Amino acid sequence: MGNITFTMIKPEAVEAGYTGAILSRIESEGFRIVAMKKVHLTPERAGNFYAIHKERPFYNELVEYMSGGPIIAAILEKDNAVADFRLLIGATNPAEAEEGTIRAEFAESLSKNAVHGSDSDENAIIEADFHFSHAERF
Ligand code: CMP
Repeated sequence: MGNITFTMIKPEAVEAGYTGAILSRIESEGFRIVAMKKVHLTPERAGNFYAIHKERPFYNELVEYMSGGPIIAAILEKDNAVADFRLLIGATNPAEAEEGTIRAEFAESLSKNAVHGSDSDENAIIEADFHFSHAERF
């Protein structure tokens, strides 16, 4: 068993019909889906999830966007999950994301960047716990 990371396929990518293609990339890169659901976050839940960014100028826009439509939330397992997943998704700004990364292929812009990936093992656990009970993990 490897360690975990947490991801969300963001509203604009779900709306565009990229869910299947993104999940296919994730699985073909060796990540195992431990838990997954489609959920429409309330502004309050989205704000709590991104509370770490509360003081940033883009916080309100981020909360509005992330609560603007359903997302796919998932826990992924693999050795070195956090770092390998960040390599797979590419830079936060898709203009800087390397060719072949998920954001280079599917993201629209810095704010609408298709997918979220945890930035540390500690945050992966916090974010996974935010969305999933232990009974929902397999
Ligand atoms: P994510 O990896 O989900 O973590 C925080 C999110 O905030 C990030 O992806 C982007 O969607 C968004 N974000 C980061 N920086 C900016 C910015 N400068 N302007 C707008 N949105 C941003």
